[in-house]
Amino acid sequence: MPGMKTPHKSARAARYFRAGKTIGLEALSTRHINERYVSWLNDAETNPYSGRSILPESLESELRYIQGVLADNTKIIFAIRLLSTGQHVGNVGLLNIDRLNRSAEIAILIGEKSQWGKGLGTEAFRLMMDYGFDTLNLHRLWMGTDSEHRGMMRVAEKLGFQLEGTFRDFYFKNGSYRDVVQYHVLNPREARGPASA
Ligand SMILES: CC(C)(COP(=O)(O)OP(=O)(O)OC[C@H]1O[C@@H](n2cnc3c(N)ncnc32)[C@H](O)[C@@H]1OP(=O)(O)O)[C@@H](O)C(=O)NCCC(=O)NCCS
Repeated sequence: MPGMKTPHKSARAARYFRAGKTIGLEALSTRHINERYVSWLNDAETNPYSGRSILPESLESELRYIQGVLADNTKIIFAIRLLSTGQHVGNVGLLNIDRLNRSAEIAILIGEKSQWGKGLGTEAFRLMMDYGFDTLNLHRLWMGTDSEHRGMMRVAEKLGFQLEGTFRDFYFKNGSYRDVVQYHVLNPREARGPASA
């Protein structure tokens, strides 16, 4: 409309639970589930290096999954939206939240392949690390990925995750057993120095 101003970026960011430079995070809920979302999970090209696209997903199975997540206090999953357009492009979350040992697994899916390689994965992971450490007061975040998943390993290494080891033949996909590498990062406010000899 004439005379109407485009909302300032900080106003667009304000609708989100957390926001970075290009993305905002909001609690994932059943209203995010649609055919396009389900296609992210089933698409073999989107998931060459993960346990997804092995068992088929549907609107019903994903609605059940999200309802389970909302009732489970060991999981917090956020929808990732572009600040520029509001498009839902993927999810990022903390799983296996262990409140006694103050640790959690961190996981991500940028489902829109056209958005790969633009820094969104790194930005989403960084927002979740800040949330996990500064808001939830976690001590340790960990993640696993296929040992050939260069993109995910690069995101982890850029953000200071350290390689812990390899799980041999951890999962079976497309005719072969595949190795998984596990990484961790400690809360920088609490990280110990190198172990003394
Ligand atoms: C893996 C994933 C999260 C990466 O997100 P992204 O937004 O594409 O990554 P970024 O743009 O932040 O890239 C970070 C770095 O990784 C590199 N990278 C990204 N994808 C890569 C690939 N396929 N091969 C090699 N390097 C890659 C980038 O070049 C960049 O490195 P640089 O800063 O040195 O240039 C995203 O591709 C994805 O969600 N894939 C599908 C689901 C999936 O595999 N999830 C993880 C399962 S464990």
